Order: sequence, then structure tokens, then C-alpha cells
Amino acid sequence: MTKIGVGIIGTGSIVNTYNKCISELEGVELVALYTKSSSRVAEVEKAFGVQAFDDLDKLLSLPEIQLICVCNESGNHGEAIQKAAAAGKHILSEKPLEVTPEKIDEVILSCKNNNVILGCVLQNRCSTDYVLAESAIKEGKLGKLLMGNAHINWYRNKEYYAKNPWRGTKRFDGGAAFMNQGIHTIDLLLNLMGDVKSVFGNVKTMVHSIEGEDVGIGVLNFKNGAIGTITGGTALYPGYSERLEIFGERGSILLEGGKIIQWNILDADKPKLLDSSSDGSGASDPTSIGHENHKTVIQDMITAIKESGKPMVDGAEARKAVAVITAFYRSSEAEELVQL
Ligand SMILES: NC(=O)c1ccc[n+]([C@@H]2O[C@H](COP(=O)([O-])OP(=O)(O)OC[C@H]3O[C@@H](n4cnc5c(N)ncnc54)[C@H](O)[C@@H]3O)[C@@H](O)[C@H]2O)c1
Repeated sequence: MTKIGVGIIGTGSIVNTYNKCISELEGVELVALYTKSSSRVAEVEKAFGVQAFDDLDKLLSLPEIQLICVCNESGNHGEAIQKAAAAGKHILSEKPLEVTPEKIDEVILSCKNNNVILGCVLQNRCSTDYVLAESAIKEGKLGKLLMGNAHINWYRNKEYYAKNPWRGTKRFDGGAAFMNQGIHTIDLLLNLMGDVKSVFGNVKTMVHSIEGEDVGIGVLNFKNGAIGTITGGTALYPGYSERLEIFGERGSILLEGGKIIQWNILDADKPKLLDSSSDGSGASDPTSIGHENHKTVIQDMITAIKESGKPMVDGAEARKAVAVITAFYRSSEAEELVQL
């Protein structure tokens, strides 16, 4: 079967991860990139060895592109997705799919109307240890779920925000520590604990000169009766590996930096844990995030396109964490519990 041609929208730091994954995968090839900056076209062509455009319509008119990877600023994902969908391309977007649930609803509808597949990259769902924990929890090995906590107490220095001014803005980043960095672990927590009924959030900007939060906490009431907490930040020096804690009536599973660190279930054996290294946590350095999980997500998308199937994280799944995070923001502003 011929390879699926890929076009990438955006030429920021994450694009190197895509380039690496695509070059290592069999059924896919990079065809072209779009950069909004005309002065960078030649530089991008040289760096990636394929065509680059500063005109998105030209890139989208290429018939050899079947899949568009959306890697620009988060608050511009929706516009890019809608254009790509109208051009009949399948879409794999970086997280967050968009920065509000309302904008996500618009892109889901647009992809449905144009009959194209929409996937979102929340690559930590592919971590080997997480998949093991997910299977056990979804099989009911922990019994009734009681409490789920996520801690994403990370650090970003001033240069991180200064380097690209969209970061930390409400319009383009949707917020900051929860929406950009915390979203991965919040997504994992929601996937394990189920739908959320109400939240209370308290977010603050205490260190960085940004609009969004650099410190935040949230309390969750899940529909199944369980409770949970989230702490996060990008001002929490030196930045600790993210942590996920799931407690059920029959035991608990704790993960740190994507690895299972505790597995204690009444009357049950511990699994044989693989001694695989983590795919990189990004706790203090965004460039330390590995590419293996991205590779799995792209491969999953290729399979979804070839088999006209559903990707690992579709629009509805990607919407859940954004809905909870924006509810934290609303709750913090109003200083009251917010129902979802
Ligand atoms: N899944 C993950 O773990 C992960 C990791 C990093 C980023 N992301 C996501 O990817 C998206 C892009 O993030 P990023 O960190 O790659 O963004 P970035 O700040 O590096 O780049 C964002 C955009 O800025 C522009 N840009 C970048 N460098 C430029 C330059 N030198 N000159 C002119 N324009 C330039 C490009 O249009 C680019 O698309 C975001 O939605 C983010 O949430 C996801």
C-alpha cells in the first residue's frame, strides 16, 4: 500500500518530534510544512528537506497529502483544523485540541461534516506502565474507585515564556500550567476515574509575567461518587516528575514520571513490571520529552485512516480535559463550585 502523505502546520519545537517519528515509521512520509512566517520558508525547507509554504491553502491543495498534523499555537488549532477538514484531509492535532470546549465542538462538527478522521495527541496514554494500570483499573481490580489525584508540579524558566510570546496567553495557550503542561496527566486521571460532575479550582499567576496560571489546585467530584485533587504549576522549582494516584476500595496504584511506583491490591499479585525507561517527563525541561509515545499515536492514526476506524483519542475524548480545566478557571474566578 502506498504511504500516507503528511503535511505539518506549524514549525515550532514539537515539529522535530514529528519529523523523527515519521522518518522511523513505515507507512507514512512527510510531504510539506506550513509556516506563517514568510522569512522562514527557505530555512524550513533546508531543515526538513521537503517543500515549505507560507500559504496554507497551497499546502492543503496538495493531493499527495492525506494527513495534516496540527502543531501550531494551541489557540490557532481550531482554524487550522477547520481549513484542513474543508480540504478533505484527516487531522491529527497536538493537545489541547483547542482551548475551550465550545471551540472543540466546532472542530468536531467540521470534521464530521467533511467526513474526515480527527485525532488528538495525548501521547502519555501510550506509556507502557500507564496501559498496565489502565487495564487493571478498567477491569475493576481496584474495586469501587474512591479517590484520584494528579500532581504536575513542574517548572519553566522565564526564557521558556519569553522565547515564544503565545505561551502563557489566554487567547493562544488557553491559560498556562494546567492547559499546556498539566493537561496530559489530567487527561490520564479522567480516563481512569470517569466523568466529572463538579469542580472547585484556585489558580494564580505568582512568578511569571504571563496571563495564565503558574500555580493551581483543583478539587474534583466524579459522577461515580469518587473524589480527586489536582495540583500543578510551572513555577515550582526545580519541577518534579508528574504523579498520578488512584485509590479504590481494594487497593491503589501510583505512577510517577509515567512509571508505576506502587501497585498494592488486596489478595492480588503484583504484575511483572517491565524495566523500560520513561519516555521523558518534561518536569523541568520541555525538550526532554521523548518521541516513542508520539510514534505510537501517529501509527494509531495511520491505522485509523487505513481501516476507516477511530483513533485512540478522538475529539470527544480530547474535549474532556479541556472542559475540566476551563471549569477550574471559571471556578477560580467566581470562587465557587462549578457544575460540568
Ligand atoms: N504533546 C506534547 O507533549 C507537546 C509538547 C510540546 C508542544 N506541544 C503542543 O504543540 C503545539 C506547538 O508547541 P511548540 O512548543 O512546538 O510551539 P513553539 O512555541 O515552539 O512554536 C509555535 C509556533 O510559533 C512559530 N514559531 C516557532 N519558532 C519560530 C521562529 N523562530 N520564527 C517564527 N515563528 C516561529 C511557529 O509558527 C510555530 O508553529 C502547542 O499546541 C503545544 O501545546 C505538545
